[in-house]
Amino acid sequence: MLTPVIKEILNRTEAMPGLKVRGWVKTRRDSKACTFAEINDGSCRANLQAVFPNDNAEINAELEKVTPGCSVELMGDLVPSPAKGQKFELSVKSIKVLGLCDPEKYPIQKKKTSDEFLRTIAHLRPRTNKYAAMLRIRSELAHAIHTYFHDKGFCYVHTPIFTASDCEGAGEVFTASAFDFSSLAKLPKNDKGEIDFSRDLFGKQTYLTVSGQLEGETLATALGRIYTFGPTFRAENSNTYRHCAEFWQIEPEMAFYELEDDMDLAEDFIKSITKHIIEKAPQDLELFAKFVEPKLMESLKNITDNSFQRLPYTEAIKLLEPENKRFEVKVSWGVDLNSEHERFLVEHYFKKPVILYNKPKEVAAFYMKLNDDGKTVRGMDVLVPRIGEIIGGSERENRLEVLEQKMQERKMDMAPYWWFLDLRRFGSVPHSGFGLGFERMMMLITGISNIRDVTAYPRVPGYAEF
Ligand code: 4AD
Ligand code: MG
Repeated sequence: MLTPVIKEILNRTEAMPGLKVRGWVKTRRDSKACTFAEINDGSCRANLQAVFPNDNAEINAELEKVTPGCSVELMGDLVPSPAKGQKFELSVKSIKVLGLCDPEKYPIQKKKTSDEFLRTIAHLRPRTNKYAAMLRIRSELAHAIHTYFHDKGFCYVHTPIFTASDCEGAGEVFTASAFDFSSLAKLPKNDKGEIDFSRDLFGKQTYLTVSGQLEGETLATALGRIYTFGPTFRAENSNTYRHCAEFWQIEPEMAFYELEDDMDLAEDFIKSITKHIIEKAPQDLELFAKFVEPKLMESLKNITDNSFQRLPYTEAIKLLEPENKRFEVKVSWGVDLNSEHERFLVEHYFKKPVILYNKPKEVAAFYMKLNDDGKTVRGMDVLVPRIGEIIGGSERENRLEVLEQKMQERKMDMAPYWWFLDLRRFGSVPHSGFGLGFERMMMLITGISNIRDVTAYPRVPGYAEF
C-alpha cells in the first residue's frame, strides 16, 4: 500500500495506529512536556501536527537536528488531538531527519518576504504556503479545463511547437535552429551573405509557435470540435505585469461555429472553470482571499453570476473617447485598445466582464472574417477585471478570395500558408475559435497581480534563470 499523504491523513474520520509520515518541518515549538512540529508534504495547505515526547533519548537526539525547512520521516499513531485547531495529531514514536536545513542559510524565513525576492529563489518558493497553493490551483485549473472540453465532446489535439509560419503575423517569433550560433563563422551562408536555413535541420527557417490556431483549424475542419493546451512563445519585449515570453494557451476551434457561438462558448468556459476552482480548491483559494486580494471571492462571484457585457468596438470607442483625459494612449476609431482602456470598460463602466467584438480590420489578425461593412472583422476579446484581455478569438475568414486578398494587402508571403489556404479550397465551412492565456486565467482566479508569480519558472525579458 502507498504511504498516505497528509491530505489523505487529515481527511480521515478515524484514528490510525502505526502511520508513516514524510514531509518538511514548517515550524517547531518546545514546551516542558513535549515538542510540537508542523509537518507539510505539499499535498494540501494544512499541516499535520506532530507531537514528540521528551522522555525518549533517541527522539531527543534526533530533535536536536530539527529546524524549519528540514525533511523528516516520522512513525507514530494518528490520535484525536486534545487541542483546538486540528482533529488529529501524530503522536510520534520515532523520527529520522532525512535532510538538514541550516536556519542561518535557509532563504525562506517565517517573516513575510517580498514576491520580488522570492522570484530570485524560484527553486525554493514552492516551499512557501502561497506558491504551493498557487501551483496546486494551477494543476486543478488544468484539470478543470480538460474536464470542461472532454465533457462537451471536444477532441484534445497536439499541435506542433516548431512551426514555419507566424500565426499572429506580428513578427514576434523566436527562431528555432539546430545551427551552432556560438560564432558567426560557423553559420552557413548563401550567396547573398544571409544565414542559409535550407541547410538547417528542417531545411527551412523555423520558429517556436506563437499559437496552435492555424494547425488547430485543420483539425477542427476534420474532427468538428477540438482544443489544444500547450506552451506558446512570443519574442515580444514587453516588460509588463501580464506578458511572458513563454505562456500556456488553450485554443478551442469549432467547425460550424459563428462569432456568436464563439462568444457564448468563451463565456460559458470562463464561468465553468471558475466555478470548478471555487468548489474544488476552497482551502487554497482562501489563502489568496486572505493574504493577496481581499476582494477575490467577490470578484469571482461577479464572473460566475453575471452575463458578460457584449460590446461592439464602435460602441466602445463612443464610451472611451469622452474619457480620453484619463488615458495615456488617446482613443479614437481605429486605435488598438490596450490594458488601460480595457480595464476602464470592465472596472469602471460595466463593472463586469466585457466581450469586445467587431474590431477594425487594420488592428486585427489576417485570419479574422471580414464583416459586410468592409471595415471591421468578426474578432472578439474577453476582458476581465485586474487583467484586461484574457481571451482573444474570432470567426475565421473561410472565403478563399477574401483571405488571399487580405494576405496580399499585408504583403504576407503566402507560400508557407498553402495548407491553410487549402482548407478554404476543399469543403470550406464557417468556423471559429479562441485562445485563453492560462497564466492570465491564473491571475484572475488567484488575485495574483504579476504574471511572474503564477507560473513556477517565468520566462520574461532579461531573465531565464533556472
Ligand atoms: O490574442 P492572442 O494573441 O490570440 C491568439 O494567439 C489566437 N491565435 C488565439 C486563437 O484564436 N486561437 O492570444 C490569446 C491569449 C490572450 O488573450 C492572452 O490571454 C494570452 O493569450 N497571451 C499572453 N499571455 C501571457 N503573455 C503573453 N505575452 C501573451 N500574449 C497573449
Ligand atoms: Mg489578442
